[in-house]
Amino acid sequence: MIRVCVAGATGWVGRALVPAIADAADLELTGAVARSFAGRRVSELLPNAARASTAAKVVIRASVEDALVAGTDVLVDYTSPELIKSNVLAAIRRRAHVVIGTSGLTTTDFDEIDSAARASGVGVVAGANFAVSAILLESFATIAARYLPSWEILDFASARKPDAPSGTARRLASRLASVRAPATAIPVAQTHGEPAARGLDLEDTQVHSIRLPGYVIGAEVMFGSADERLSIRYEGGSGASPYVKGTLAAVRRVTTLTGLSQDLEQVLRFAE
Ligand SMILES: NC(=O)c1ccc[n+]([C@@H]2O[C@H](COP(=O)([O-])OP(=O)(O)OC[C@H]3O[C@@H](n4cnc5c(N)ncnc54)[C@H](OP(=O)(O)O)[C@@H]3O)[C@@H](O)[C@H]2O)c1
Repeated sequence: MIRVCVAGATGWVGRALVPAIADAADLELTGAVARSFAGRRVSELLPNAARASTAAKVVIRASVEDALVAGTDVLVDYTSPELIKSNVLAAIRRRAHVVIGTSGLTTTDFDEIDSAARASGVGVVAGANFAVSAILLESFATIAARYLPSWEILDFASARKPDAPSGTARRLASRLASVRAPATAIPVAQTHGEPAARGLDLEDTQVHSIRLPGYVIGAEVMFGSADERLSIRYEGGSGASPYVKGTLAAVRRVTTLTGLSQDLEQVLRFAE
């Protein structure tokens, strides 16, 4: 049995994740965090059928420090960019593994987290996007970049998403950069007119962020080669269930690791 604490239990992802953990035969909910529900029981977040479960009795706490009871194996965090680093380091200090869903960490933060996790002998899995389709987009695009020389990324999200580019687009650009730099006929800086029209240069890939009502989250990698084109596109819908599935797989995977992993293809092997 893997004992799990969820930070952000009352959020968009957290509210879908908590009942899924309560239902999973190999997982036990031992802690939950959200300021607005502090002192109340997890039963309030569960459908009627699950209210007799052990998870229902867990009391929601205002902070990770208060919620990480002895024996917690994994902290899952879906809170906010301001909080994520301190939550992760607090869990590592208590020798809990961590699954990071929250966005906003930098490469320097990840280096620090990796060192701390190795020193404590625990694993950390960080996923820019835990949806299985987004993980597959990353895998397929990485294969395509070996054979097709030029590409650009479209980054779709709702009009209300405050940040750009998305974590999904950043991760894609970084994975593609690990294959090679895309070929360009005219360097962006030499564009006649407005170079900004060519998008953001992210690790040599041009990224175009579109924020419109009607979209939730999505990304498309467009490859071009002489006389042929390939587009690989992922689009997330309005429910959080795809992130729940990937997150539960990451919970199972992280207990087998020491140090940080952002390799979500490995996580897929733990998806049911
Ligand atoms: N990796 C992925 O696949 C993926 C997928 C979806 C979202 N995300 C990311 O995950 C994060 C959460 O997304 P969401 O849409 O679920 O957010 P949300 O609906 O705003 O939920 C945030 C949760 O965190 C809690 N929280 C916020 N600040 C807190 C604090 N200072 N102390 C304790 N609890 C706090 C909130 O409860 P209180 O306000 O009551 O404290 C709430 O339960 C975002 O960074 C988002 O970009 C990642």
